[in-house]
Amino acid sequence: MDLQKVIKTAKALVADNKGLLAMDESIHSCNKRFALLGIPETVEARRAYRELIITTPNLSEFISGLILCDETFRQSKRDGTPFIKVIEDAGIIIGIKVDAGEVDFEGHPGEKIAIGLDGLSERLAEYAGMGARFAKWRGEIIIGKDIPSKDCIDANAKSLAKYAALCQEAGLVPIVEPEVIMDGKHPLCRCLEVTKEVLLSVFNQLQLHNVALEGILLKPNMILPGLNCAIQESVEEVADATVRFLLKSVPLTVPGIAFLSGGQPYQLATEHLNAMNAQFKDKLPWALTFSFSRAIQQPVLELWKGNKNNVEKAQAALFHRSKCNYAACRGEYDITMEYS
Ligand code: 13P
Repeated sequence: MDLQKVIKTAKALVADNKGLLAMDESIHSCNKRFALLGIPETVEARRAYRELIITTPNLSEFISGLILCDETFRQSKRDGTPFIKVIEDAGIIIGIKVDAGEVDFEGHPGEKIAIGLDGLSERLAEYAGMGARFAKWRGEIIIGKDIPSKDCIDANAKSLAKYAALCQEAGLVPIVEPEVIMDGKHPLCRCLEVTKEVLLSVFNQLQLHNVALEGILLKPNMILPGLNCAIQESVEEVADATVRFLLKSVPLTVPGIAFLSGGQPYQLATEHLNAMNAQFKDKLPWALTFSFSRAIQQPVLELWKGNKNNVEKAQAALFHRSKCNYAACRGEYDITMEYS
């Protein structure tokens, strides 16, 4: 294991206030988003969309790493250049999603467990050989009546830790993503309570599996009220609750925390990240950045709509959202950026 290499990559991913772009939606999730906009659910449409993203000029000014899914990892530009080469040439670090999605957690109605540990070492070795330098695994925790159970939290934490240990063994930085899902009417304090339990279990399992915390990135949810909760806290309240909680729960040796957006409106996700850095940046032991998918891609997809004539304006939107989130990492985002 070359731990120094892993640590160096982890630091590079969060250096210079840059963030990550998750473009690793499974074929199923990508198709669902395409269907809503009337975009054909085909291999070629997914390829064309991903080509649009990775060929956006100067994306590396704001984005340090791109997370791909297996399909995208093996695809090429229309002119035959492998995507991996395009991304490397752009100076962006390549990541790969390696969980195989989630299935029902047996004996626990309404709960899910991420799968994909079978044959994972072999897959990681192949991805690393092809140019990947980091990986991602997402374990989903659902809030509902009497859930999540401790069993589900611990089982997902254990899988995340096994995956993280295998990644470091293969020379890849593991992005550890325990996502407490936003759907529901629960208040912010319930999200806080569950996320607390989840991160406690995750760091406990990481330690049991001898994962070097200097060589991981944490990708958590922000501390938010459920999407359908009647009381929606202010941007400052969310930022405050999230950072105070993370300061108590995330060891100082972790180099960076890169949030998922979780279905928040994209501008609000940027405002939350900005408020956290504006208020706390000087006091934080780790970088606080983004690893958004929907909160960067949504406006891009809506402009593109599967039409090649829209590529340029969709790329401009991708560049813009990335720039706004980069500003948020410095606490320098301002709403007027949206109109400039
Ligand atoms: P969202 O930003 O859309 O939540 O996606 C992040 C991600 O990578 C989910 O695994």
